[in-house]
Amino acid sequence: APDLSVALGRLRLANPILVASGTFGYAREFAPLVDLSTLGGVVPKTVTPQPRTGNPPPRTVETPAGMLNSIGLDNDGVDHFCAHHLPYLSGLGTAVIANVAGKSPDEFAAMAAQVEQAGGADAIELNVSCPNVSGGVDYGRTPEGAAAVVSAVRAACDLPILAKLTPNVTDVPSVAKAAAEAGADAVTLVNTFTGLAVNWRTRRPVLGNGIGGLSGPAIKPLALRIVYQVAQAVDVPIVGCGGIRTVDDVLEFLVCGASAVQVGTANFADPTVSGRLVKDLAAAMSEEGVLSVRGLVGTLG
Ligand code: DOR
Repeated sequence: APDLSVALGRLRLANPILVASGTFGYAREFAPLVDLSTLGGVVPKTVTPQPRTGNPPPRTVETPAGMLNSIGLDNDGVDHFCAHHLPYLSGLGTAVIANVAGKSPDEFAAMAAQVEQAGGADAIELNVSCPNVSGGVDYGRTPEGAAAVVSAVRAACDLPILAKLTPNVTDVPSVAKAAAEAGADAVTLVNTFTGLAVNWRTRRPVLGNGIGGLSGPAIKPLALRIVYQVAQAVDVPIVGCGGIRTVDDVLEFLVCGASAVQVGTANFADPTVSGRLVKDLAAAMSEEGVLSVRGLVGTLG
């Protein structure tokens, strides 16, 4: 059987198939549908220092070109996550990559330390890229902002760090480089692209919050381009995310330079897709005579 194992800096994964934050809840609803122990890991929904109710409805809309969301980091807060979700997640037999967002580098650092202290997380993913919250949680818009958050977390916590970056800037490689130099073990590329659905008759945006984040197959070529650009420019492990639904999508991200991938929007249409992709990946590699995932990463000519 092909070797599916990968490393994201200090984080080792049995295989490269992860589920993306915000598209898999805290995994409970998926446990009857997917053998979660077969996944490379799970990334639960972003948690913040305090509970948040999120943005006004409607918060999601399907467009012909993909899904738009403006959830606004609806969550029960980091205390509830540590007490209620983390003990469950840590028993699943897969890597747990806790995802946090704060309004300052200190808030990110305090949450990372709290999650590490609680036990059960294998790594921390920093959401420095949510497009739907005003008041600056999108530190990943500048190299300086990303570096400030990653360094603060690095100083407060020994867990491997993934920085989830926004595609809504001109120069993602510069932000990725700053995150890597500040101590990120890997960068996740990418969060959603800002977009707008409108109702011209009512002259209103469709989403209650106006602009939202676009996801799904529509963004795959854009995400692949960013993964490839960062892989060419920066020496940092990459987790690819954006429109992944099939095993060919997974393999395309790997050859463009991703060491692992996150399946996001596809989980809504088919909650079992992530488990199937692990099997399909092994089968597709065997069929092509590819011996290891690591040997495929970044081989695009
Ligand atoms: O598209 C997104 N929606 N990205 C995030 O990082 C958070 C999420 C939300 O809660 O709005």
